[in-house]
This record gives sequence, C-alpha cells and structure tokens, in this order.
Amino acid sequence: MAEPQGVQRGLQDVVALESRICFIDGRQGRLIYQGYDIRDLAARSTFEEVAYLLWYGRLPNATQLEELKGRFGTVRALPPPLVDQIDRMPIEAHPMDILRTAVSALAGFEPEETRPGASSIGGAQRLTAVLPSILAQFHRRRKGLPLVRARPELSQAAYLLYAVLDREPTELETRAMDVALILHADHELNASTFAARVTASTLSDLYSAVTSAVGTLKGPLHGGANERVMELLDEIGTPERVEEIVHGKLSRHERIMGFGHRVYKVEDPRATILREWSRKVGENKGDLHYYELLRRVEEVVHREKGLYPNVDLYSGSVYSLLGFPADLFTPIFAASRVAGWTAHVLEEYQDLRLIRPTAKYVGAVDLPYVPIGQRS
Ligand code: CMC
Repeated sequence: MAEPQGVQRGLQDVVALESRICFIDGRQGRLIYQGYDIRDLAARSTFEEVAYLLWYGRLPNATQLEELKGRFGTVRALPPPLVDQIDRMPIEAHPMDILRTAVSALAGFEPEETRPGASSIGGAQRLTAVLPSILAQFHRRRKGLPLVRARPELSQAAYLLYAVLDREPTELETRAMDVALILHADHELNASTFAARVTASTLSDLYSAVTSAVGTLKGPLHGGANERVMELLDEIGTPERVEEIVHGKLSRHERIMGFGHRVYKVEDPRATILREWSRKVGENKGDLHYYELLRRVEEVVHREKGLYPNVDLYSGSVYSLLGFPADLFTPIFAASRVAGWTAHVLEEYQDLRLIRPTAKYVGAVDLPYVPIGQRS
C-alpha cells in the first residue's frame, strides 16, 4: 500500500485543478475574472455583465446582456409552495439557514434543471436570479411586509435593495450594491467554491453543489466574517475604545474578522474598492461612524499584527448604511457568489474528475476485537 507523504493542512498551496475563471495574484494584490481586472469591472461593468463573463468566458454584447437581464427578471419569482416552506421556518432562524434550505428545496421544483451537464446553465441563471427573492421573502415575512413583486425591469442590484428594504433605491445605492455584487462574484478556489466543485465532481447536480457552497460560506472564517465585523464595531462603539478592544482580542489570540487571507500577502483589492464605497455611501448618508471606526481598527491591526484587510472588512459597513440588518450580510455575499459557484460547477462538468484526496492515517491498526460483553 502506497503511503501518503506529507500533509498539506487546509490544502494550503495545493494546486487542485486548472481553471480559466478567476486568477488571484496574492503578491501583487490583483484579482482577475476571465482576463479582466476587478478594478476595471468594478469601475465600469454591472453584476449582470460579470455573471455573463463568468459563465461564458467573454463579456456580453448589448443583445446578450439584455437577454440575460430579461431572463433574470422572468425567473425571479419563487414557486408558491417554496414561499409557503420559507414562511413555515422560524423567524428567529439565521437567513443563511433559510437560504441553504430553500436552494435545496428549489431543486424539487425544477427537476429538469438539476441534471448535470449542458442544461445547468439554465439552472445557474435561475439560481442567481432567485437568491435575492429567497432572502427578501424571509426578511419581509419577519418584518410583516407583503409578498414582493418580481419587478423584471430592475437589475439584480436594484431588485435586491427594493425587495429586502421595500423601497425604491437611489442611483448611488444601486451602484454601491452593484459594485459589491461584482466584487464578491468569484474568488478562485475559495472554500465554498471548492465545496461546490467537490459536490459537482461526483456528477451530482447544480442545486446540490450550491447547497454545499451556501453551507460552507456561512462559516466565520469565510463569508460569515462580514457579519462578525459589525459585531466587533458595535462592541467597540467609539473610536477611543478601538485600541483597548483590539489589543484585548489579540492578546487572547482571538481573530479579528475582516483581516488576513490565505492567498493575499498584501491588501485584498476588493477591500481597497469597498473602503472607498464605505466612505462614499457614508458621506452621502451623512454617517461616517463605521468608516472612521474601521480606519482606526485597520491602523491598530496592521501595526500590531501586520495584517491587511480582506473583502469582509468594509462590505458590512456599506450594507448597513444601505439599510440591511447584519444577518443578511453573508446571504448578500451568497447572492453574488452564486454566479461564481455555478460557473465553477459548469467548468467542472466540462472536465470532470472525481475530487477525492487522501488522508494520512494516524490511528491504530490491528486492535483485537473485544466482544461487547467484555468491554469496559
Ligand atoms: N486576526 C488575528 N490573527 C490572524 C488573523 C486575524 N484575522 N488572520 C491570521 N492571523 C494570524 C494567525 O493567528 C496566525 O498567527 P500565528 O502564526 O502567530 O499563529 C497567522 O496569522 C497565520 O494565520 P493562519 O490561520 O495560518 O492563516 P490562514 O491562511 O489559514 O487564514 C484566514 C486565513 C482568512 C482564515 C484568517 O486570516 C482569518 O481567520 N481571518 C479572519 C476571518 C476572515 O476575515 N475571513 C474572511 C476571509 S476573506 C473572504 C472570504 O473568504 O470569505
């Protein structure tokens, strides 16, 4: 029997597959989707263009873009029995639990879309269109708001704002949301995308892969960090308390959420862009409280630990200013990353190989079997 050699804990630096979708240059702090720099995409494109880019490998022309927007608009509504199912969940539940359950349940309503292979592009678009509706349905119910209208004329960003917040968003709010969706849409083999690809690599269906991904994104070391950043800011309260609270956490060897990254050795370029949007939206709303606290936290964490911010540091401050409650931050991340998850699943189906690593066994062997009556 061949013995496994070294163990790469956390699969750190292991190259598991080839992909054309996303490139991270962790030393230069660059992020590329299908050849395009994230800074250009954030400055000039929309989430719909980016989703198309991730799925098809090229930017859409005007007709293709209109077709995709039309498709999002027409498949946005939830099947009524799924609405009932969401309405039966406890209102105290975390929205990520609702999302995971609803994505899984959706497969049952769309069996022809759940088969692996070419038809999955329809499922990818359907899932991307529908995630905001799931969040909105749950949130509106807990707020006692009526059923949301699908509003096919709205972009994904505007619809997400309208559906959850129950008001018409401004142009600046819609652009801020759009940029956040663009920035979160993909990130190479992050944990949730890897989970999606592992599931797809067994020839399982797209909905199962996305269900795995939602569960993986939920963790605070991954997408759940954005919600924890807001908890930290609320604990800090005022700028004078930043030093004391951050020092206390570091001396207890606690992690400061929104800092550090497995791949980036410099600042995450998404953090750079979101910092700017946090300031911009803060100025627009006349509220720079979170922005100023975050700047201070950044200074202290960098001085003490040499760590740089990641995408999760500033995103919550933007969402909060837009009016979202903190427990919707990670679900918003999912509503964007679903484009990347599904692009990776489609790529996996094109060049499928079962993902199945090995473990180095460190347990016992050849133990004598003890009959139950003789065990202590
Ligand atoms: N706060 C305090 N110390 C940290 C942090 C942090 N946020 N991140 C890393 N470190 C320290 C860690 O304690 C360790 O120190 P030492 O060598 O003295 O034990 C060292 O830096 C290396 O950490 P690591 O855990 O080996 O590094 P990793 O590559 O496994 O961690 C990470 C990456 C993202 C899990 C980690 O930086 C972290 O826990 N960050 C906080 C959670 C967070 O913000 N997650 C969002 C990640 S980006 C978006 C996403 O993927 O969703």
